[in-house]
Amino acid sequence: TSLKPYNTFGIAVKALYFAEVVSLSDLQELLSSELIKTQPLLILGGGSNVLFTKDFEGLAVKVSIPGISAVDQGEDVIVTAGAGVVWNDFVNYCVQHGYAGVENLSLIPGTVGASPIQNIGAYGVELKDVFESCTGMEISTGISRSFSHADCQFGYRDSIFKNELKGQYLITEVRFRLSRVAKINTQYGAIQEELAKRGISKPTIADVSAVVAHIRVSKLPDPTTIGNAGSFFKNPVISASDFKKLQDDFPETVHYQVAGGKVKLAAGWLIEQCGFKGKVFGQTGTWKNQALVLVNHGQATGQEVYSFSENIINTVEAKFGVRLEREVNIL
Ligand code: FAD
Ligand code: EPU
Repeated sequence: TSLKPYNTFGIAVKALYFAEVVSLSDLQELLSSELIKTQPLLILGGGSNVLFTKDFEGLAVKVSIPGISAVDQGEDVIVTAGAGVVWNDFVNYCVQHGYAGVENLSLIPGTVGASPIQNIGAYGVELKDVFESCTGMEISTGISRSFSHADCQFGYRDSIFKNELKGQYLITEVRFRLSRVAKINTQYGAIQEELAKRGISKPTIADVSAVVAHIRVSKLPDPTTIGNAGSFFKNPVISASDFKKLQDDFPETVHYQVAGGKVKLAAGWLIEQCGFKGKVFGQTGTWKNQALVLVNHGQATGQEVYSFSENIINTVEAKFGVRLEREVNIL
C-alpha cells in the first residue's frame, strides 16, 4: 500500500501491510491476529508528524476511531473524543459549544489520538493544560488502561509515549477538561496584535480561534499543497550560563525565559541566521515564511529531507554551538 496519502510530507513510500481501525472491536480483532505477532507495527493518525526515509516493512495501522461526547461537571465540561477524530474538528466542536480551553490550538493538523504523544502546543497553550486522561490499548495484550495526567509525564513536545512506553500502547480515546466559562489566553503578542487590528477588545473563544487560524495560515505551508510536517526541530532549551555566552557573541538571539531559569531559543531564528530561510535544495528546502518548517517541493525522498536536516543541524551547531533536535518522528 502506498503511504503517500497518509503522510503530510507527501513522501512516496510503501507499507508491506496496511489496516484501518474504526472501532475498538476492530482493534481487538487486529491485536489478536497472526499478522500483529509477526510484523513490526506502525501506528498512524494523520501522518502530520512523521518523515518516512524508507518503505515500512511491516503493518501500518491508521487509527480512525470516531466520536465526541461531553458531560458537564459544574463550570467544567469533560469532553471525550475518539482517537481518530481530526484534531481541528474537535477544536471546532468545542468552540461551537462554548467549551473553552483548546481555541489556541486551532488548525493543528492530525488526530486527537496523537495529541498526547508529543503534548501538542501552540500560541501559549499545551495539550497538558486541558488533558484529563486517556485510554490506551496495550499492543501486546489487547488490554485497555487509563492514563492520568501524571502518568503521561508531559513535557515540551514530550510524554511517556515517546519514552518508556514508546510503541507499546495505541491510544483509543482522550478526555479533556474544558471550561464553560471562557478564560481567554491572549498572552501571545501575535494574537493581541491581530485582535487589535480587528478592533476586538473583548474576544470570545471563537475570536481567538479565528485569529490563531489566521496567523497560522500566514506563516505555515498548507500540507495539501506543499508537503511538510510543521516544525521540523524543537526549540532548544539551554542553561542560563550557556545562554550568556551565546548572547555575548550574538546579542540579538531570539529567546524566552522558561521554567528552572533555563532559556528557550527560537530554532527558526537560528536556522534563518545560517541563511537557510526560503532556500530550495533540490526537491526540499525551508519554508519562505518559517525557516523551522522543512518542505517537500513535490518529488522529495525522505532521505533527501533527512540529509538536508543533517546539514541544518551541523551548520547551526558550527555557528552557534547549539545542537538542534528533530521534532518530527523519523521512520
Ligand atoms: P502522526 O503523524 O500520524 O503520528 C505521530 C506519532 O504519534 C507517531 O509516532 C505515531 O506512531 C504516534 N501515534 C499517532 N496516533 C497514535 C495513537 N492513536 N496511539 C498511539 N500512537 C499514535 N504540532 C504542535 O504541537 N503544534 C503545532 O502548532 C503544530 N503545527 C503543525 C503545522 C503543520 C502544517 C503540520 C503539518 C504539523 C504541525 N504540528 C504541530 C505537528 C502535528 O500536527 C502534531 O504532532 C500532531 O499531533 C500529529 O498528529 P497525527 O495524527 O498526524 O500523528
Ligand atoms: N523566527 C525567525 N525566523 C523564522 C522563524 C521564526 O526569526 O524563519 C523567530 C521570530 O523571532 C519569531 C520566533 O522565531 O518571533 C518564533 O516563531 P513562531 O512564532 O513562528 O514560533 P516557533 O517557535 O517557530 C513554535 C512551535 C509551533 C507553534 C508556534 C506557535 C515548536 C518546535 N514549534 O514555533 O509548533 O505553532 O510556536 O506557538 O515549538 C509544530 O510543532 O509543528 C509547530 C508548528
